[in-house]
Amino acid sequence: MSSIVTPEFTRGLPKAELHLHIKGTLEPELKLKLAKRNNVDIGQETIEDVQKTYDYHDLASFLAVYYPAMNVLQTEEDFYDLAWAYLTKAAANNVRHVEIFFDPQAHTSRGIPFETVINGLYRATVDARALNVDAHLIMCFLRDFSKESARLTLQEGLKYRDKIIGVGLDSDEHNNPPLKFARQFEDAAAAGLHLTTHCDIDQKDSIEHIRQALEIMEVERLDHGTNIVEDPDLVELVAKRQIGLTSCPLSNGFVSPEMKGEEIISLLKAGAKISINSDDPAYFKGYISDNYYALAQKYQLSQEQIVQLAKNSFESSWISQKQKELYLAEIDSYVAKFSK
Ligand code: ADE
Ligand code: ZN
Repeated sequence: MSSIVTPEFTRGLPKAELHLHIKGTLEPELKLKLAKRNNVDIGQETIEDVQKTYDYHDLASFLAVYYPAMNVLQTEEDFYDLAWAYLTKAAANNVRHVEIFFDPQAHTSRGIPFETVINGLYRATVDARALNVDAHLIMCFLRDFSKESARLTLQEGLKYRDKIIGVGLDSDEHNNPPLKFARQFEDAAAAGLHLTTHCDIDQKDSIEHIRQALEIMEVERLDHGTNIVEDPDLVELVAKRQIGLTSCPLSNGFVSPEMKGEEIISLLKAGAKISINSDDPAYFKGYISDNYYALAQKYQLSQEQIVQLAKNSFESSWISQKQKELYLAEIDSYVAKFSK
């Protein structure tokens, strides 16, 4: 295997995306188009105006820019268009399988019906089969909202059980530990849903949150979660249980001083199922292949390491063993052809 990683190699490499917020794919062009279509005044008229507001240095300052923009999303068609725009980019990045986060409360809290959100997003995932992208939805609870709000959201979500594969937690982690939602996670698991949670970068209680998620709530994946390197016993646990860690290098570089490449490499070497993802690509300047390439370039990753990260993405995805093997074989034949 050649050791040079190029943008073409990372783009064509078959991969799964497991950490992608659909709201975070709202590009300035679509934001302006939807604002016009729905007569919503966002106080910005040009792409430059929108980009000027993209000023953040940590999770809280990012979320403060991110949420107000959601107002442009009003109708089922808007949610469809948002998801479709992402899915066409996913196809161009050879994302073969994607598990997409959506946050119903970010919309129901401003009067948009749950069904408007899910029907628009779900229809795009069905249409994505024509793009050769296998797309699924993970419903996230906003962890800075109440437990009661999460309970009602789960109740509503279960009416669409066949359209959702799992639940997660996102938004502001400060003083919002995973355990706050233990009951909702238990109920979701009882309904056969998969479990994941954000354990964001450099939080006040990162290690305690990771410990709760793994030892008490028994999640199958951690979103981000790279602070786990601070606790070797927990690293051993995720490697042993083959828990996925969905890392997002470009996003890391925005909310912290670096991409966390050292942590990613160390987890890869420890045998953890760490993968590369884009988080909120419209806000963090890059889709999934850009994340692979930026990491490879900055930290001099070999082609073998990049391939292992892509294999990890399928191995920690929520698909059958048989399907995983098919995707892994696709990676092997891609690499063989590329190296010729
Ligand atoms: N919502 C969108 N992106 C997020 C992230 N990286 N962490 C927590 N909540 C988010
Ligand atoms: Zn995220």
